[in-house]
Amino acid sequence: MISTDVIIIGAGIAAHSVACRLCDNGKKVIMLTKSKKMNCNSTLAQGGISVALGENDSYMSHYEDTLTAGCGLNNKEATLTLVKTAPSVIREFIDDGMNFDKNPDGSLSFGKEAAHKLARVIHAGGDRTGLKVMEQLYVNLADRAEIHEDEPVIDIITKDGEATGVITRTADGKYHTYSAPYIVLATGGIGNLYPGTSNDSTITGDSVALGYRCGAELKNLEFVQFHPTLLTFGGKNYGLITEAVRGDGGVLINEKGEKIMEGVHPLKDLAPRDVVSRAVYTHTLAGEQIYLDISKIHDFKTRFPYVSEICETNGLDLSKNLIPVAPGAHFHMGGVKALPTGETTIKGLYAVGEAACTGVHGANRLASNSLLEGLVFGRLTADNIISSNRALKLCEYEPSSLEPKLPLPSKGSIKKVMMNCVGIIRTESKLKKAVKFFEEYMPDENGFGRINPDSVSDAELEIYNMLTTGWLIAKAALERKESFGAHYIVEDENQ
Ligand code: SIN
Repeated sequence: MISTDVIIIGAGIAAHSVACRLCDNGKKVIMLTKSKKMNCNSTLAQGGISVALGENDSYMSHYEDTLTAGCGLNNKEATLTLVKTAPSVIREFIDDGMNFDKNPDGSLSFGKEAAHKLARVIHAGGDRTGLKVMEQLYVNLADRAEIHEDEPVIDIITKDGEATGVITRTADGKYHTYSAPYIVLATGGIGNLYPGTSNDSTITGDSVALGYRCGAELKNLEFVQFHPTLLTFGGKNYGLITEAVRGDGGVLINEKGEKIMEGVHPLKDLAPRDVVSRAVYTHTLAGEQIYLDISKIHDFKTRFPYVSEICETNGLDLSKNLIPVAPGAHFHMGGVKALPTGETTIKGLYAVGEAACTGVHGANRLASNSLLEGLVFGRLTADNIISSNRALKLCEYEPSSLEPKLPLPSKGSIKKVMMNCVGIIRTESKLKKAVKFFEEYMPDENGFGRINPDSVSDAELEIYNMLTTGWLIAKAALERKESFGAHYIVEDENQ
């Protein structure tokens, strides 16, 4: 049994933001990640960080854009906290060494992305913002936290309704229990529940499943954001083509060269993501190939080095100025219900970043608000922990005797069901079909509870988490009868 001040599950921007602040304040932190610390969505993020630091900008303008993109379903208080705290957190991050892209006169360079009224997105290394931010956080953390890689968390341990620790298993098959008064869920979202995704391959909805199994309240699970432009050809996707490409003049066209966003939305190619994704998806379903026409962008390779690398490594000739695209799962607005200060409905359990649902994104996240959320709410969560005084209770792990229904389905079949039935355009009958599919693997009538870990490999445990999360998302989608943002539901005969 290992005891520490704080256990953080995950290693992306939110996890590191919490860890840095805690370590600055002398806390002992252990971070647990099921793969390597670089395996997170944060290192892949191309778009930047939206923050009202420009001369003509204000946090209220950022607030309004966040609410408009979120279809007004945002938690207004949490949203205000995010946009209002953002400028000081970003300024401090810059003071701590972070180098964002600048104009020739040394001022911060602001880019424009979808659904923002004005240019307020800061970048680093052009389209390598996520990696640059993470590299800076690694420097700032300076090995002060213990990071345990390749150590999946099997379950959060609770006693009398409070989280007291976690149980993990290492590659040698050994189990480890950790006790801490504070356990922070920060494993990111759910992208790999779908066949096409911008997410790292390790992102499989673990926080939703872990939160569910320990009784935490979950929220807004039905809101899954699809990014309209993943480099896609031959039925396979090869990574994100950042929205900043459209911000710089990229235009979505069909095979005849017609602009597909004309007449669909007043903001055309820079309409909210759900609108653009549905438009691209509808054309794709009709068998058309959609392209991002980049002919109007000067010096594309200098402006977008990472996108260029992704395209060229995968054999795409950029001199034709056409990038074949299709939508893919990108961001989960739902998650473990939490406050901006991290508290969930379970004492001792905190959630932050994409794993959490504070309600800031409403039904559809505004571009470049996710790295921001990780940094700002990571900071607030750490400050909350620092000022609290929960006592350590040594945890005891009692393995469950519940056996999973083996064999579990393949990841591929889960992804197929999620895309076909719980994807960009949904119908009641397809959602019911998905729920039925998942329930065939439910170990008992009480849902997807804690199972005996001895009966599953790590790969099977991951699939069990995917089944759990997929089932919960499908059920949540079935409960929301009206379309809002990323949850788009039509009558059966229209699909
Ligand atoms: C992008 O670069 O298009 C994604 C940015 C984001 O999801 O905010």
